[in-house]
Amino acid sequence: MKILVMGPPGAGKGSQSAKIVKSYNIPSISTGQMFREAYKNNESMGIEAMEYIKNGNLVSDQITNKIVKHRLHRYDTERSFLLDGYPRTVRQAVALDEMLENMGTKLDAVINILSSNDVLFERMENRRVCKKCGATYHLIFKKPSISGVCDLCSGELYQREDDTLESVKRRLEIYETKTKPLLDYYEKKGILYNINGMQPFDNVYADIELVLREL
Ligand code: AP5
Ligand code: MG
Ligand code: ZN
Repeated sequence: MKILVMGPPGAGKGSQSAKIVKSYNIPSISTGQMFREAYKNNESMGIEAMEYIKNGNLVSDQITNKIVKHRLHRYDTERSFLLDGYPRTVRQAVALDEMLENMGTKLDAVINILSSNDVLFERMENRRVCKKCGATYHLIFKKPSISGVCDLCSGELYQREDDTLESVKRRLEIYETKTKPLLDYYEKKGILYNINGMQPFDNVYADIELVLREL
């Protein structure tokens, strides 16, 4: 199963991807998560990427394609993988197709999680993330048992650097202009599946599962 999870910022890509990779036991490749991890570890790539991320801009195609290529070359991606948040420009999509072609494979499905901007703003404002393990919470819909503490690893919860109002606005703008055109690209390939992301977590997941079961 080789799938891609798409959607605007805050749509629930990360939350649904976490559930999919756990149920199907497949590796997850999230470029956003890789950048944040590299930043946390003080790697120069991460520090450079954070300059773009915190303002809501995209990291360059060149850097992004390079880290994905490197990650796809690990042995665990041969049978299955899930991509979260990559590609998000047409150039990245073309680069990915080339990488997969060289690996003798292709994508099976693109899960596109849809949501209105009101919902997206609200979700990013209330999102908290674990510093240690990256688990995602929501102050209303997915509250941690102890305020400010991760249920899974007791790590500290924080608000992402790019979840400021200004940055969220910019990310939504970029989604509209740079990422949305990709939907056409995958629609034409006949592998695009639209999912209503404005439902409770489990209902969104159930809709995704209906698609995955047919693959
Ligand atoms: P990335 O980390 O991918 O961020 P994003 O695309 O902006 O998406 P988010 O992670 O903000 O949202 P999500 O859809 O994962 O939602 P989540 O599940 O957390 O990228 C960050 C940055 O890195 C980019 O802006 C860019 O700078 C850079 N970058 C990354 N990839 C790149 C690339 N390919 N090229 C160039 N640059 C790149 O959910 C959000 C909140 O809502 C949570 O609190 C959650 O608990 C809650 N929630 C989720 N689902 C529901 C539900 N059904 N009901 C109620 N609440 C819900
Ligand atoms: Mg995410
Ligand atoms: Zn944690």
